[in-house]
Amino acid sequence: MTTTLVDHTFRKDVRRCFENQTYAIPARWLYDRRGSELFEEITALPEYYPTRTETALLRANGPAFAASTGANRAVIEFGSGSSTKTPHLLKAIDPAAYVPIDISGEFLEHSASLLQEQFPDLPIYPVEADFMKRVALPESVADMPKLGFFPGSTIGNMIARTSVNLLSFMRETLGEGAQLLIGFDRIKDQQLLIDAYDDSAGVTAQFSLNLLHRINRELDGDIPCETFRHRAVWNDLHARIEIYLEAQDDVKFSIDGTVHEMGKGQKIHIENSHKYGLRDARLMLRAGGWTPSHDWSDEQDYFTLILAEARPYKHAP
Ligand code: TRP
Repeated sequence: MTTTLVDHTFRKDVRRCFENQTYAIPARWLYDRRGSELFEEITALPEYYPTRTETALLRANGPAFAASTGANRAVIEFGSGSSTKTPHLLKAIDPAAYVPIDISGEFLEHSASLLQEQFPDLPIYPVEADFMKRVALPESVADMPKLGFFPGSTIGNMIARTSVNLLSFMRETLGEGAQLLIGFDRIKDQQLLIDAYDDSAGVTAQFSLNLLHRINRELDGDIPCETFRHRAVWNDLHARIEIYLEAQDDVKFSIDGTVHEMGKGQKIHIENSHKYGLRDARLMLRAGGWTPSHDWSDEQDYFTLILAEARPYKHAP
């Protein structure tokens, strides 16, 4: 995406938040350069268990993945980012090609070239695309059996309907007979969940508040960021952590020359992170056209990797 298009959509989304008073901003805007740095820091926090747990699962279960996938698959990663978890999988299964898909072209080339150094003989075909839609894969992998890879429980950042749509698109992109290895963050003790999204060092709070700083930087805003507080709330009915920025006082500020007011206690919703029971996750996969076949969890059931297959559709008996 070009810078101007990013500016335009960011402006539109922020305007909708305050002018249409939705008081919600899409989470993708958290990840500017500073936001991405802070998120890297989050993944190393003692309270933030997901990254470390999933990485350990990937590292520990290589032989089992290999037994289930076989060799010579094309690995297609959705939202590859820095591809930090990918080497563990690639080492384990001896793939024929790697296709990282990411919306940020710059990031993509950089991480692809780092990975190429580590796997000099592996053909890598980066694709710059929005993985929330059907993606055209490179001709070179057309005849290879496919393995989709979607780690990070990124699926958890979508509401159920969006998740199912995405899974269906992935099935179209990868084709019948493909496999998908996907991460799901599990439902667990509420305090553990809340701490993971509101750490004692305050890094997560900085990460959330960076969104307001970004608005000030890029959209000519004068939001008094210190008036807002980061809040992580467990919503049991939706089985998700909700992240908000809450005004600690009545505030008045301007963005792009337009004045907005918020009352004390009013919140801006900036992220959802859904958590799943094992059967919830399997149901979600089947709803999107994927049949779960294997799964791997850590000893505490904090996180699960599920392998699923795109089997031909059959009529119900
Ligand atoms: N995808 C991450 C998650 O849901 C994103 C995340 C971690 C996040 N901590 C956050 C998003 C705090 C907003 C605020 O685990």
